[in-house]
Amino acid sequence: MAPYATISGRGLDWDSVPMRLFQKAKRLGTWDPQAIDFSSDGADWAAFDSVERDFLLRTVALFQAGEEGVTTDLLPLIMVIAREGRIEEEIFLTSFLWEEAKHVEFFRRWLDQVAVAREDLGHYMTPSYSHLFQVELPKALNALRDDQSVEAQIRASVTYNMIIEGVLAETGYHGFRQSLEVSGKLPGLLEGIRMTARDESRHIRYGVFLLNRLINQSASGWEVMNQRMNELLGPALGVVSEFWEHYDEEHAPFGQRMETYIDYASTQFDKRMKVLERDRGKSFAEIEEAAVADLAAEDLAVAAR
Ligand code: MN
Ligand code: FE2
Repeated sequence: MAPYATISGRGLDWDSVPMRLFQKAKRLGTWDPQAIDFSSDGADWAAFDSVERDFLLRTVALFQAGEEGVTTDLLPLIMVIAREGRIEEEIFLTSFLWEEAKHVEFFRRWLDQVAVAREDLGHYMTPSYSHLFQVELPKALNALRDDQSVEAQIRASVTYNMIIEGVLAETGYHGFRQSLEVSGKLPGLLEGIRMTARDESRHIRYGVFLLNRLINQSASGWEVMNQRMNELLGPALGVVSEFWEHYDEEHAPFGQRMETYIDYASTQFDKRMKVLERDRGKSFAEIEEAAVADLAAEDLAVAAR
């Protein structure tokens, strides 16, 4: 029998969820952070007051640190997927890691060229933020170096895809994007955040698919997933509330409100939990079928916009 899947009778599973996501990644994930025009951003930045600048620096510093964190910590998951011979998932994950690297590049370019922020920005990290990004994320992912069990993979995926990407990154980008759209300021930052958020939506889609598959493979999968969610939801909401301790909620810069973030975070979280609940107990073939239908429905919705 051929030692490689792609020269065996198996070939590549073109219809699989990861291969479909990889096709999207090659079309949508190839934007270049260097090509984004920051010329208007510079003029906007010069006109902001100190509270507005503090708000922007705090936000972008957390985005920047988060993107570096997810870039640094993804490799152990890719290694497990590769070791299990899941070539389609590994192929998709190459685009995933590459995109995270570009997100790191994008925010640092904005900090260098627009905010000219050469000072140390570490003081913007709050206790909940540091706990999630410096303790929970690396711990859950690095655990996979010694423990490749399905349960360890579930804990890693909940931490990375459902909490860090699904609750924190997506909510942060959504709320921040809305306020930039309303203010009409910082078009370069806005464009990069739109692109970044679109990449993240593919990562989260893969994460939901991965979790669904893993839960299906383990008798205790559902409980392991739930327990991990419960461990991390508190700190995740803490990231939002600790951010807002620095601003007057009624008169925050750019008309932002903490409730917008909390509401969006819970809506998105519930939506994904519903998918996991819907597919609970299904076979892998049924899970793939449902995920492919979700992708098709999403493409229709995007085309109708
Ligand atoms: Mn990212
Ligand atoms: Fe991501």
